[in-house]
Amino acid sequence: MSWLITGGAGYIGAHVVRAMLAAGERVAVLDDLSTGVAERLPAGVPLVRGSVADGAVAERALREHGVTGVVHLAAQKRVPESVARPTLYYRENVGGLATLLDAMVAAGVRRLVFSSSAAVYGSPDVPLVTEETPCRPINPYGETKLAGEWLVRAVGRAHGVRSVCLRYFNVAGAASPELADRGAANVIPLFFERIEAGLPPVIFGDDYPTPDGTCVRDYIHVADLADAHLAAARELARADAGAPAGDLTVNVGTGVGVSVRELAAAVGAATGWSSPPVVEGRRPGDPARVVASAALAAERLGFTARRGLGEMVSSAWEGWLLRSADPAAG
Ligand SMILES: NC(=O)c1ccc[n+]([C@@H]2O[C@H](COP(=O)([O-])OP(=O)(O)OC[C@H]3O[C@@H](n4cnc5c(N)ncnc54)[C@H](O)[C@@H]3O)[C@@H](O)[C@H]2O)c1
Repeated sequence: MSWLITGGAGYIGAHVVRAMLAAGERVAVLDDLSTGVAERLPAGVPLVRGSVADGAVAERALREHGVTGVVHLAAQKRVPESVARPTLYYRENVGGLATLLDAMVAAGVRRLVFSSSAAVYGSPDVPLVTEETPCRPINPYGETKLAGEWLVRAVGRAHGVRSVCLRYFNVAGAASPELADRGAANVIPLFFERIEAGLPPVIFGDDYPTPDGTCVRDYIHVADLADAHLAAARELARADAGAPAGDLTVNVGTGVGVSVRELAAAVGAATGWSSPPVVEGRRPGDPARVVASAALAAERLGFTARRGLGEMVSSAWEGWLLRSADPAAG
């Protein structure tokens, strides 16, 4: 099969490109390079520089590369920005998807893997988040991902596009330092920033109802996440060969909760930082615990994450050091 990876020059997309190539799939990339970096792509991978929101460009890319399936990662992903600029997020993440889906239908491409997010759940008050947990996003970013899932399913019903929506939990790490996330503003880079400045990591709140009082999350290595895309692509190929049709929505996490304190210890081990973190007050809107049930992904996609926290944190640190050594690379 031949896959178009939208957002393939981005952090996750570049890992998906590598996983698909390694598995013998043919890939081309559609990316406007708004946050992506062309150098992340291995030599020989065709890059169409343009926006998914440009229907003519998208349709041409699908036809010219003989595409039979799309992995759609291209999106805006900064939560605070989505709060400040909701129309941008709806236009890019929902409008861009609608245009891409029109181009797919016009070009006869009827398989889609869609990047969704645990942000669709909002602040779920459950020990383990299953795909049946109610979706109540708490910011426009999460809303656009949920609306995207609805749109994908509606187009599936109307035009026979088969889909797998992947709800990623907390993505971290890198397969190699140059593929590390350059724009992340989550807890791991915030810890690195403090350590680089010679300051202890800050933990926001240690009075949550969790075993050590700090927030618990489900961190997944980006290389595992890339493997989940490959598994989803294979599932769509199987469905074509007569397996049950329709859409599938699955969590992509490890099923293992890691507290901020445990994460700080892993960051200490990776970086050599030894003094204890400092604790400040809670930040508004941080749920105590968000951990995926990984059962459906195992059952339906045969996917289980393999890489551990230490590997995630040390590979993220190597990427951080590379960026510090060469700021032009970031
Ligand atoms: N990183 C995470 O923790 C995380 C978690 C959940 C979901 N996601 C989703 O995963 C996807 C990829 O995220 P990422 O972390 O790799 O982000 P990223 O910013 O590194 O990658 C996004 C890529 O899409 C490209 N792009 C953006 N708008 C485009 C457009 N209109 N047309 C063509 N290309 C466009 C960018 O240039 C970039 O290469 C996004 O859909 C994001 O919402 C990410």
